Amino acid sequence: MEKTFLMVKPDGVQRGLIGEIVTRFEKKGLKLLAGKIMVVSEEQAKTHYIEHESKPFFESLISYITSGPVFAMVWEGKDAITLTRSMIGATKPTEAAPGTIRGDYAVEMSRNLIHGSDSAESAEREIANMFDPNELIQYEQVIAKCLY
Ligand code: PPS
Repeated sequence: MEKTFLMVKPDGVQRGLIGEIVTRFEKKGLKLLAGKIMVVSEEQAKTHYIEHESKPFFESLISYITSGPVFAMVWEGKDAITLTRSMIGATKPTEAAPGTIRGDYAVEMSRNLIHGSDSAESAEREIANMFDPNELIQYEQVIAKCLY
């Protein structure tokens, strides 16, 4: 099983798309381990996008991601990283296929609705940047407690 960090960005929250986006991943069969509405601090934003620090769009990316609440999530499933990235669609909405989240709902690169980890290493770092370990549900333990 693989974990991934997904985040509905401020434009997605503002447009009321949290439910629609969560539904897609639930229906696919992935497990939601954690989810919270939060405002990303400047420090968290810079850590999150550290590999793009030298890119010309870095400053605008930081101000976009800190501009309003996001919905941060941890999902788990077989091949969760590859699966969720294909459901999210290409970074550039004009290249995102219909049926993907960006293909269906996004228009601009700088307002592309959702982030998804691109590797297991990024997922681990991104989850640790936004969540305390105890915020992630351990289904086996919780279910065992409820049933017995
Ligand atoms: S790169 O250069 O290929 O590594 O960058 P890319 O993977 O395409 O994008 C990295 C993240 O930056 C976002 N991005 C932008 N944001 C605002 N404005 C512009 N012009 C822009 N270009 C790229 C892009 O959506 C990626 O963010 P995440 O959250 O990972 O999708």
